[in-house]
Amino acid sequence: MKKTFMGAALLALTLLSCGRQLVEKVDLIPQVDEVTIGKGSVSLAHLKTIRTAEGWEAPVGNFVRDVEKAMGTEMRLVEGEASIQLVKKEGLPAEGYTVDISRKGVTISANDVQGACHGLTTLFQLMLGAAEGKLPVLSIQDQPVYGYRGLMLDCSRHFWTVDELKESIDQLAFFKFNTLHLHLTDNQAWRMAVDKYPELVKAGTHYPNYPELSDKYYTKDDLKAVVAYAASRGVEVIPEIDLPGHSTALLAALPELSCKGGKFEAYPEESSWAERKRAGENMVCVGNPKTYEFAADMVDALAEVFPSKYIHFGGDEVPTAVWEKCPKCMALYRQQGMSQPGELQDYFTRKMSELIRSKGKVMIGWDEINDRGAATPEDVLTVWRDNGVKAQLEALERGIPVIMCPQHGCYYDWGYAGNSTRKVYEWNPVLNEGLTDGQKALIKGAQGALWTERVATQDRVEWMLYPRMCALAEVLWTPQEDRDWDNFYQRITAYYPVMKQLGINYYEDDAMNEKEFVPSEEKPALVRNANIDTNIPVNPPYHAEYAFDGKSNTFFWGGSTVGEGHYFQVNLGEPMTVSEVKVITGDSKDYITRADLLLSEDGQAFEKVAEFDELGQAEAKVDARTVRAVKIQVTGPHTCWPIIKEVMLK
Ligand code: ACM
Ligand code: ZN
Repeated sequence: MKKTFMGAALLALTLLSCGRQLVEKVDLIPQVDEVTIGKGSVSLAHLKTIRTAEGWEAPVGNFVRDVEKAMGTEMRLVEGEASIQLVKKEGLPAEGYTVDISRKGVTISANDVQGACHGLTTLFQLMLGAAEGKLPVLSIQDQPVYGYRGLMLDCSRHFWTVDELKESIDQLAFFKFNTLHLHLTDNQAWRMAVDKYPELVKAGTHYPNYPELSDKYYTKDDLKAVVAYAASRGVEVIPEIDLPGHSTALLAALPELSCKGGKFEAYPEESSWAERKRAGENMVCVGNPKTYEFAADMVDALAEVFPSKYIHFGGDEVPTAVWEKCPKCMALYRQQGMSQPGELQDYFTRKMSELIRSKGKVMIGWDEINDRGAATPEDVLTVWRDNGVKAQLEALERGIPVIMCPQHGCYYDWGYAGNSTRKVYEWNPVLNEGLTDGQKALIKGAQGALWTERVATQDRVEWMLYPRMCALAEVLWTPQEDRDWDNFYQRITAYYPVMKQLGINYYEDDAMNEKEFVPSEEKPALVRNANIDTNIPVNPPYHAEYAFDGKSNTFFWGGSTVGEGHYFQVNLGEPMTVSEVKVITGDSKDYITRADLLLSEDGQAFEKVAEFDELGQAEAKVDARTVRAVKIQVTGPHTCWPIIKEVMLK
């Protein structure tokens, strides 16, 4: 173990061994680099506010702060109060900081706003763990391993209010993330108002059959407020407009940018497949010069609101079938001497990259833009497909910087069985062996991704993200040789009360120590004598028995969408006296929400005891009832393939 890690471990031990407990437990997440403990302690009980001579002030022990104003002002604290000084110190690394707690007060030094934010966060984390408001005399020196530590949040499939985005930003800042990538457009909705194209957020967010989900979007001022709020917490917001695919909502507003014209309609994720019109035609026409005028206007609109030097222009999942039948697209194809339809996307990619660079910005795109080598070292790729190994190597071999966001490790719309907290913790952004130092330097960092097709509330956002984002925070901040799952496991579970105090709706994972559910490595073994009867086709190897094996991180996965008439039944070999029954289905996109839960005493006649809720769970207390069979009876259509994690009887 390196000295740095020892330092942190020592801190916890020293404090815990004091007769008079100063700090209940120092559970800093991510783990800080170096800690030196001095003699004595400092009372910070009355340290409620940071004040500067200029009159700026902010409460301590709260996420609220405005560091930009404070930096460089050499904060002077009001007489008679313990003081926090925020000092700009040349020579500290990007985002690095020091925190010194002495009898005179606290000094936080940093060379940039982010570093100051992280220093304040560390102090805040220490204070949250402090008993009787006392902290030991100590100094901390800390900096991150990776410069890009982020979250991609899908604002299209479901909408997050400005206040909810601020809440998410507070949580990111608390775990020392520095980037929020907002996926602002997709088939389901176009969320960013653009003055020149008012129709975008009208047709692009309106669903006649779903008024309660309609008309939700961000004005320019909303987004500027989000950007400013994030900046003052050391978080940069990178916007994404997803082109040339994923564009149904755009085409609902501007059908003239499609290949065939006619009427398009945005659809909410809550709609059935049958309700979704022209869902397979979701790409703009790349043979139409108007598409490029529109794209240039979008770059201008984004640049006006978002100061980030990066603009994400999507580029993922673009089928070419519609282009192949479009006279305009095919004229471009012939004129450019193309030899395969995918080159039409490459043409679009190159145009976008040039356009974005001409405005002084850098284009980021999903990794498909490099499939045929259209991306250049002046662009950045977000690597997302599968485990990311291939796309990472293909980018680095061509000198293209990458943000790692592979499905394995970083997709948190996946359930906790597929991307467990432990799997995230043991993940590493460097996926290929034998990379040169120069290639490794092109790995800017990583981000979690939360697609929100089936995530409809802020509570659920947090449930999917935490504690996995805590694990990712440490992967990206702390050197790999200082990371240790057992140590993290102890800290994170000890941290739950802090998360509760902060209002973070984390997921309490009873399979926290599991790595990942890989069916080929784990034979299903029923928890008791029983057989399973279902008319839902199996999606091998996710067999039905995984739903009754006593483990919530293994699951049955059906091989088709389900509707009325589908059932899943566990027949017990011997009757069992049951006082509680609970079924948990997928915590990812694939959960059952329209179904009844029934029990039978004789295996023939069933009685309904509960309904599944919108989160895919059903539970009932029953009074010492004899049970011979449990049945999940689907009562309505689903757009997903269902996952059943566990049928639990007590
Ligand atoms: C993606 O998940 N389509 C980037
Ligand atoms: Zn076309």
